[in-house]
Amino acid sequence: MTIKTAFGFGLVFLALAACDQTAEPPAATEEPAAATEEVEVAANDAVEMIDIAPMQVGDASLAEGPGLQVYVDACASCHEGQVAKAPHRAMLNIMSPESVYRALTEGVMVENAEFLSDEEKIHVSEYLTGLRMGEASETTLLMCEAGDWFDADAAPQTTNWGLKEDNTRFIDGDVADLTADDLDNLELKWAFAYPDAVRARSQPTIAAGAIFVGSHNGMVFALDRASGCVHWTFQASAEVRTGIAIDPWDAGDTEADPQLHFGDLLGNVYAIKARTGELVWRDRPDDHPSATITGTPSLHNGKLYVPISSLEVTPAADPRYECCTFRGSVVAYDATGGAKLWQSFTIEEEPTLQRQNSAGTDNYGPSGAPIWNSPTIDVVRNQLIVGTGENYSSPATLTSDALIAFDLDTGEMNWAFQATPNDVWNTACDSDRPANCPVEDGPDFDFGASTMLATSASGRDLALGGQKSGVAHALDPETGEVVWQNQVGRGGVQGGIHFGMAAGNGVLFVPVSDFPDGQTYPEPARPGLYAVDLDSGEITWSSPSVDVCDGRPFCHPGISGAITASPGLVYAGGMDGVLRIHDSASGDVLWEHDTTQEVTAVDGTVASGGTIGGGAAPVVMDGHLYVSSGYGIYGHMPGRVLLVFGPAEAAE
Ligand code: HEC
Repeated sequence: MTIKTAFGFGLVFLALAACDQTAEPPAATEEPAAATEEVEVAANDAVEMIDIAPMQVGDASLAEGPGLQVYVDACASCHEGQVAKAPHRAMLNIMSPESVYRALTEGVMVENAEFLSDEEKIHVSEYLTGLRMGEASETTLLMCEAGDWFDADAAPQTTNWGLKEDNTRFIDGDVADLTADDLDNLELKWAFAYPDAVRARSQPTIAAGAIFVGSHNGMVFALDRASGCVHWTFQASAEVRTGIAIDPWDAGDTEADPQLHFGDLLGNVYAIKARTGELVWRDRPDDHPSATITGTPSLHNGKLYVPISSLEVTPAADPRYECCTFRGSVVAYDATGGAKLWQSFTIEEEPTLQRQNSAGTDNYGPSGAPIWNSPTIDVVRNQLIVGTGENYSSPATLTSDALIAFDLDTGEMNWAFQATPNDVWNTACDSDRPANCPVEDGPDFDFGASTMLATSASGRDLALGGQKSGVAHALDPETGEVVWQNQVGRGGVQGGIHFGMAAGNGVLFVPVSDFPDGQTYPEPARPGLYAVDLDSGEITWSSPSVDVCDGRPFCHPGISGAITASPGLVYAGGMDGVLRIHDSASGDVLWEHDTTQEVTAVDGTVASGGTIGGGAAPVVMDGHLYVSSGYGIYGHMPGRVLLVFGPAEAAE
């Protein structure tokens, strides 16, 4: 059900059913999957007959072109879900053709492709991705002059995605150095265009005089913080949608040799050197063919905690797919050397055969409860807290759509709080071939937003969860018991509350998407930003989104991406592409910038942003504001820029 079409001068992914997590199922307007076809495998080996469901690409000539036969002959025996570690075809489908080609010519698939001609490699890369090589936007990188740029005095203010270990996304005033009085003077300083990209989901990390950020085509960049030139690049195997966690060091320690940690779409986790981009270690922590990493790994005391999600909801739409066997987990590593310490699953029991579906295919369960948010470190209770998504197949478990606390040292589950029971769902439920749809056919109300640990005005510690149902939950972090709940948004399959809230000074800031998803809900949508008092759980102000889209395609009011707060201010990027700064006392919009406008990037390329989405939240430091824009996926506006704002008078 993947539909990709050409749009404007870039490319837009109209609606990608190959969604990275159940979080974001295909838009309701999407065309149903075409009938299946069978393709005889001409290969000489033991493979008898493999059913290849048709590729759902915009360019039908590629789906039926010469690449199909190459795929069937040379790749299908492993990439239809049969082989542990081999990513499913649905995942290869959301790579760029260049990255598939790179895997065949210089990456992990060189041996599997050695008997193919260059032309065949191009054909199969184009077939798998539905895109022609070179069709994606071109950019020439502006490299910095060689020299020692690493500023040891600029130690990181924060190591993790949540901007603090408690994941509150609250930046202290001395770090942010930006107040309401500065906003009149805040202007665009420079822009960077991500090459070969239609989305920008990785949150920038600022340290050592550089900006470290991942990108859609799998490149990780170290950009010069002042000028935007490129110090180095690192090529991951696939899209890096996580942020970049960075080892801390003492300011001024010129011997410091910190590592950066992140994950990619194919479920690989990496440690590379911040100074050079050199690979230190890499692992694929989960054997499942559909495993992926969306939430940013969290660092604490030299250990790295990696949240594992999957794309298995997507192949589940094929009646012949043996749905489903993935279980969400957290994997702990020694961050420096990469030794795996433990892996704890959200569902303890392994999946077993449950039934045959109406097409006669075996169904397995329980499964699902993926984790696609960044683990919250609870130092006081020596635990981490994550949120889970729905079950993929029956039976339902008690740990789907739940907040779960795991012991930091052993990985043992301390408690689990389930918000929505019996939520079992996969994309088969939304297709015209629902054989794999479980009886529960649940609402798909994941916890997408990272849990936060915050203290109310009266001094009460709370664990705060934001759910796609639109409900904000406050729990006792010791026990997981509910303190209060508030239905802030209407809810929906793309939220409700989607990628991340913020909290500080006794207030919870809740971004609401309420994206139209074709379902009917008892209440009207109320996209916007809300403030909730942490003691009472009551809404203290609301700032409803105003529709400025004027009918532009893929533009919607509401906030799906994660938000950020600093004293007095809340920073929120909208599905309409507008970055807004709100007064945290009243909700009033004090400043805004439309990121969909074309800008000339530092390398001279003209590019623009789009929807601001995913984990790519604004970051504020030393009076500067950094945001990535573009979310060409699941029916949102494509784009590919990193924008840096700073004070007008500062000569840079
Ligand atoms: C014998 C089994 C097998 C065959 C045949 C095979 N692959 Fe793979 N493929 C794998 C496995 C296993 C991995 C994961 C490797 C890893 O991550 O270490 C993989 C990974 C990949 C990746 C991700 C690359 C990356 O950088 O992580 C791509 C793209 C890919 N294969 C494409 C292909 C294509 C195209 C073909 C046919 C020309 C093919 N594969 C044939 C087993 C296979």
